[in-house]
Amino acid sequence: MMSRPLRIVVGITGGIAAYKALGVIRGFVSDGHHVEVVATDAALEFVGRSSLEALSRNSVSVGLYDDVASVRHVRMGQTADIIVVAPATANSLAQLAHGLASNLLGNIVLATRGLVVVAPAMHTEMWMNRATQENVATLVERGFVVVGPASGALTGDDAGVGRMAEASEIIAASYAAVAAQGSSDLSGVRVLISGGGTQEPIDPVRFIGNRSSGAQAVAIARAAQARGAIVTLVHAHMEAEIPLGVTAVEALTADKMLHEMTRLAAQFDIVIMAAAVADYRVADVSDAKLKKSSDGSNRTLLLEQTTDVLATLASTPDRKFRLVGFAAETARNGELQTLAVEKLDRKGCDVIVANEVSWERGIGTPNNDVVIVSRSRVRGVPPEVVQASGDKLSVAHRILDSLV
Ligand code: CTP
Repeated sequence: MMSRPLRIVVGITGGIAAYKALGVIRGFVSDGHHVEVVATDAALEFVGRSSLEALSRNSVSVGLYDDVASVRHVRMGQTADIIVVAPATANSLAQLAHGLASNLLGNIVLATRGLVVVAPAMHTEMWMNRATQENVATLVERGFVVVGPASGALTGDDAGVGRMAEASEIIAASYAAVAAQGSSDLSGVRVLISGGGTQEPIDPVRFIGNRSSGAQAVAIARAAQARGAIVTLVHAHMEAEIPLGVTAVEALTADKMLHEMTRLAAQFDIVIMAAAVADYRVADVSDAKLKKSSDGSNRTLLLEQTTDVLATLASTPDRKFRLVGFAAETARNGELQTLAVEKLDRKGCDVIVANEVSWERGIGTPNNDVVIVSRSRVRGVPPEVVQASGDKLSVAHRILDSLV
């Protein structure tokens, strides 16, 4: 995709799976895209217009003769980057395959130059019927993307092929289709991201950790994926869920993080060190669970420094990948930028994303407020500084903007 959000039309046709379309709408909206819903009359027998409007944050279009003055079907078709029909009933697949313009959705699909993704949902017999199979083959031949159907429980007591794909799969397939189309500014770019907080063992049951949730790394992974990148996430301890389609590699300690990142980095175009990596590990990890002392005396843990992964990656001989580091600083206003520029030089990376942290700010919050400092490609020219604030996904997009 592009750095701008996608314009997505979600078409909902009349099947019981229409309730799952709510998840599709919600997912696209929470990824920052502009969503307009077109429902058939039959679809509104299954889901309420109010739910669709609340989730899409736009009014829902139903009739061909509503708001004729704005020539809605042409406008929506022409401006859509992608039309996602979920669920697509047997009837709507037949309609699309034959180019029928008998309702608003049919018109919009005929008027679009954008991609069309369909997620069929129907009973097994209807799906297997030769008419449906031939219609689907026609659509595939015309470049439509078909997601599912899956096999599983159907509406009645029966089970079989015909269940609509899950919302997350439909969303992932839509992004993959946009990426494959080459209209994305990170299309085919390989991005390696580290995220989460490392846990350095003290004994078999204890560790030294940090409060990183991995949310910013996951947001970068999602933003990169939505812009067409092929994403690998090397993760320490994470609370945030790893998005579908992202290759996940576990690295719980600073040592493992160093191992995995140095092993993988050369295969990537962009490497982003968003993980909160421990600066120290316990020097003498105990094989047995430590007992507390009977006399109440203090215990001292000897800590040794870990290797700085970011600095190690920065000094890769003949480095080809662009390297982004993070800096979490308990700095006061104005100081943050100075510290970020210093860290950019000290670590030797191309971009530093600095954020202010405190007991309340930056970690475990839905929003982020960062300064993005990018090294100038021209020697002697000072680094470029951009401020970005908002939810972690929009901050993720600003970080990626600094790289494209
Ligand atoms: N980092 C790393 N390896 C480490 C420690 C940190 O790769 N062993 C990376 C982090 O992923 C982040 C960046 O270094 O991208 C900044 O980490 P931070 O702890 O803020 O900076 P330090 O280098 O530890 O400097 P200081 O503690 O002096 O601020």
